[in-house]
Parts: sequence; structure tokens; C-alpha cells
Amino acid sequence: MSASLSTVFADSGLLLFRVKELEEQQSVFRNSLVCAFNQLLDLKDISTGVHSTRLAEWAIRVARKLNIPEEDMYQVEVAALLHDVGKVGVPDAILKKQGPLTSEERALINRHPEYSWSILRLFPDLEGASLYALHHHENIDGTGYPAGLKGNDIPLVSRIVSVIDAYDAMISNRCYRKGLPHTEAVHRLLESSGSQFDIEVVHTFIPIAEQERADVFAAAGTSTSAAL
Ligand SMILES: [Fe+2]
Repeated sequence: MSASLSTVFADSGLLLFRVKELEEQQSVFRNSLVCAFNQLLDLKDISTGVHSTRLAEWAIRVARKLNIPEEDMYQVEVAALLHDVGKVGVPDAILKKQGPLTSEERALINRHPEYSWSILRLFPDLEGASLYALHHHENIDGTGYPAGLKGNDIPLVSRIVSVIDAYDAMISNRCYRKGLPHTEAVHRLLESSGSQFDIEVVHTFIPIAEQERADVFAAAGTSTSAAL
């Protein structure tokens, strides 16, 4: 091999190494941003009941069962963690209001998926997650928001986030109300399957929720029937 050719190979090897290094730095930076925004949601008390990482675990487990490619799992995880980040754009007085909302207040809250999208799309390489967040309040029958998408026009990950988020909200205790029992939450998911929720996603998620509940009770040394 001539000296100039080996110099070219050495240079390209160095360049590839540098590109890899920059990609890793960007990935670390992006993960830090995701963690920081997740922390922001906790501080603003916007996260729902279970720890947000639990929500991400559920989303990933459902996504795997529904054959979403492994390379998309980071987008799934971030969508599960940060789909409600746009709520930082809604005044606390409206977000945490305990009485009925006026139509203006409801309209403002309903902007939060668009706000989430506008924040997440600014992160490096999170176009997928930003799109999934944008559509996490669409309903299968087209009555959701912001776009009124129907059925499979709604991204699958958005349909997953919609189900696990609703379940989590139902079982979580709030200062003004006690969370629903697991069985009632499952009943409501099933009842709204095909109108609000994707039937396949609901049926994929229920065994995961059942297992989780059994594990929690097993760890606590109590019977699941005690909490029904
Ligand atoms: Fe939301």
C-alpha cells in the first residue's frame, strides 16, 4: 500500500472515530435534557401518580408486544415520560382546578399536546417522540384532539401512551379523590375500547397491569383481593 493511501485510511479512521464520539456526546446531552425535563414535571407536580419511569416501562413492554422495532424504543420511552410536558404552558390555577372547567379553560388545557410537540421537537433526534406526544389525546373514533385523527391514522405509540396514561390517572390517588381500584380501571378501559382507546392496545396492556399489581402485592406480602 502506498504511503498516501495508508494516510487516507488513517484519516478516515480518525474521522469515523470522531463522528462516533460526537454522536455519543449528543446522546448523553439528549438524555440529560430528557431527565431535566422529567424532573421539571415532577417539580411542577404534573406527572401522574405512579413514578414516570414506571409509565415508560409499561409503554416499552406494550410496544415490544406490538412488535414496534427495537430502534424506536427510545422514542417510545421519551413519549411516555414527557408527553404532558406542554402542561407547563397551562396556568396552575386551571391545571389544578378542582371544580368544573369553563369551555375556555378546557380549550386551554387541550392545547397541551401541541405545546408538548413544540418543546420536544426542539430536542435533538426526538421527532418521533414529539409526534407521539402531539397525538396522545386522539380517540380511536376521531373525537379526540388536536387533529381528530381516527383509528390507525393515530400513531401506534400515541395510542399506547393514551391507554397507560388513562389507567395511571384512574388508579392514582389525588388530594381531592381516591384512585379507582384496578378492576374498575380495567373495566373502564374495556368499556371505552373501540371509541376512545385502541382495542388491541388495551388487551395487550391489561395482562401487564395485572402482573405489575400482583408483583406489588407479592412484594408487600398482601393479597391482591384485599384491594379490590
Ligand atoms: Fe395529556
